[in-house]
Amino acid sequence: MKALQEETNWRAQWISDLSYRFERPESPVPFVFQKVFRCEKKAVAAKARITAFGIYEGELNGKRIGEAYFAPGFTSYEHILQVQTYDLTDALEEENRLRITVAGGWAVGRTTYVDDTTHSYSKMAADAPALLAEIRVTYADGTEEIIGTDDSWQVTQEGPVRFADWYDGEIYDARIALLADDAAWKPAQPMTPRLSPMLAGQYGPEVTAHERLEGKELFFDDINGEWIYDFGQNIAGVVELKLNGKKGQTVRVRHAELLAKHAPGGMTPTYPADIPKFTVCGPEGPGELYVYSLRSAKQTVCYTCTDGEQRFSPTLTYMGFRYAGISGIDAEDILSVTAVALYSDIPQTGSFACSNEDLNRLQKNIEWSAKSNFVDVPTDCPQRDERQGWTGDIALFADTACFNFDLTDFLGKWLLDQKYEQGEHGEIPFVIPRRTGHTPEMVTSGWGDSCIMVPWALYQSEGDADLLRRQYPVMQCYMNAVEQLAALSAEEYGTPYIWKHPFHFGDWCAPYGAVPDWLARGPWVGTAYWAYMCRLMSRICAVIGEDEERARYAKLSEEISGAWYQTFVDENGLLKEEFQTGYVLPLAFELGTAEQRAVLAERLAEMIRENGGALNTGFQATPYILFALCDNGQAHAAYDLLLQEEGACWLYQIRHGATTFWEQWQALEPDGTIRESSYNHYAYGSVGDFFYRRICGLEAEEAGYRTFRVKPVPGGGLTWAECAHICPYGEIRVRWEMDEKQAFHIRVSVPEGTECRLVRPDGTEETLPAGNHVR
Ligand code: BGC
Repeated sequence: MKALQEETNWRAQWISDLSYRFERPESPVPFVFQKVFRCEKKAVAAKARITAFGIYEGELNGKRIGEAYFAPGFTSYEHILQVQTYDLTDALEEENRLRITVAGGWAVGRTTYVDDTTHSYSKMAADAPALLAEIRVTYADGTEEIIGTDDSWQVTQEGPVRFADWYDGEIYDARIALLADDAAWKPAQPMTPRLSPMLAGQYGPEVTAHERLEGKELFFDDINGEWIYDFGQNIAGVVELKLNGKKGQTVRVRHAELLAKHAPGGMTPTYPADIPKFTVCGPEGPGELYVYSLRSAKQTVCYTCTDGEQRFSPTLTYMGFRYAGISGIDAEDILSVTAVALYSDIPQTGSFACSNEDLNRLQKNIEWSAKSNFVDVPTDCPQRDERQGWTGDIALFADTACFNFDLTDFLGKWLLDQKYEQGEHGEIPFVIPRRTGHTPEMVTSGWGDSCIMVPWALYQSEGDADLLRRQYPVMQCYMNAVEQLAALSAEEYGTPYIWKHPFHFGDWCAPYGAVPDWLARGPWVGTAYWAYMCRLMSRICAVIGEDEERARYAKLSEEISGAWYQTFVDENGLLKEEFQTGYVLPLAFELGTAEQRAVLAERLAEMIRENGGALNTGFQATPYILFALCDNGQAHAAYDLLLQEEGACWLYQIRHGATTFWEQWQALEPDGTIRESSYNHYAYGSVGDFFYRRICGLEAEEAGYRTFRVKPVPGGGLTWAECAHICPYGEIRVRWEMDEKQAFHIRVSVPEGTECRLVRPDGTEETLPAGNHVR
């Protein structure tokens, strides 16, 4: 990660409007701050540094400052706040007007999981939008002038952005011309923010605009009076409208992931509220946007026009959507509707393709679910009233994500927040950045394990041991807490190595049962993860030279693994209480002996067959189920499951038109009935790890790929598969093919400075030096 640079020596003061009041849990009306200034001499350069409590965008003399969205970004505001620097030389004139709009964003605006009654709250880091900005003008004579925020700045709530909020969207009035209305401005007031974080130069990647997808008009929905547009892809982002408008005309755009139609009789399955039953509807209609899965989020943009042809795109919010519904305008006046994907600037470093188009679509869905949820922090979903940095989701997706993207800075930033926010007894907040004093923080498997799993995934892909050194105290403190918590159930289990308390998500989101059933699996899941975390800790300790701890963790891992078998497995080597996850985890985490695992693997394959070929695992086992089979003599079963199309399985989603991964396996029932779910959660996209590591066989043997292995496991009728991954040394490329006689051919590109161990499916091995190899 980029080194932290503290931004010091400010001449500017924080400013806000202290008379402005708004009620929780609402978001504030965005503030516009203004400074009008004159350069008395010839200026040769102008640099600005800006930050805010809230999210800001600025313009100097009508020219937008920077390309980024949602600056200063989301960090643990109690501890650290990013500052952006800009070169404004080109926009500077003799007479200048600088305007910076600050909306509520994460610091002041509405956010969720913070209050027991409303489940949402605002003013988490500050009571109102606040700004700190400084422009340093250099004159031709070598002198400098600093224009910093102070009481000579002005502020108003009467700007064109009438409302902006993560969940509800944006309201914009293009008729409002600020300059014409002198009365709206008040002097800004210097203030001392409630928090005093370190101010650091931008160290995470910025959120910027990426793919642009043209909307296709589908039909008119007469229930809501909307023209329905399809962008062909579920994304996180905003629409850009080009239209012919009349002054005062308000155009409304709503956003949704699905199109639906009322189904006769019944209620939506699993919804707590009274929501009638809907089924998905095709592009021909009739139907409407399905907005119930957004919970309380409105995801709506309202734009009030001026006269003539105009363009608009919101800049202080984003939505999760594939479809938009536009009202308040005749179809012929909608000139174009484009969806613009917004996500952090994460370079793509991987690709995968093979002879099966369904798997290729899965790979696309992995990339899109990643993009949609890498919006400044790794989120669970981009659409409903949540969009939080849920720790478990990224823990489970990190391996796959690191094959596809360079996440050094993106996850490095998030891990720093995790370090700041760990509780004194090792607790890891469920969501990071947390909401001061309001987010549950706990020592719990999977979610808490993110403090080990995420750095480990990054380390495997980058080979940066410093990252492990930096995060080691967090891991150590967490692992000590786990040990103490496990000891609490020593009497119940007759061993201190079963981890039950205080709480586990268990088999979270499994296709069977409901929340209580998933949580009840906690001891099996928590204990297996604990054994695995101890193994990772022993490897981490080996890397950073903590020898005593390395040995202690290796031994602990063995003890826990022994206790796992002792407690949960019967004399025939099968689980006393059988469920797929219970079989997957010991297999994937290599608990017990090879003989013990062979029994488990056979039974797992059988259970999948008994389940109609479908899986029955939730968040914590799904990333590993194919490995559990494949690495334990059941490669055939692994491919069968990967290519299964009915019941809970990956291709079921593809058959039902998914363009991103769903949160729940049965988010849509076979007849198209819609259940409560997000349709853009990346946890099940963790299947991508299997594409790289087993189908193509690419795996780092030494972290950072100085030595790596290529050991493909062909199967599933695939006739070819290929992947590429840019590692720190350059691009690795693998492509294998089966000819008509089932002979195996492979090409491997080995970057300079690395070495590859090629293991063919027949078991023969050779070492490949740098260069391109055809075998
Ligand atoms: C989120 C998840 C998260 C889970 C844990 C959900 O609401 O969307 O992805 O990990 O809660 O409880």
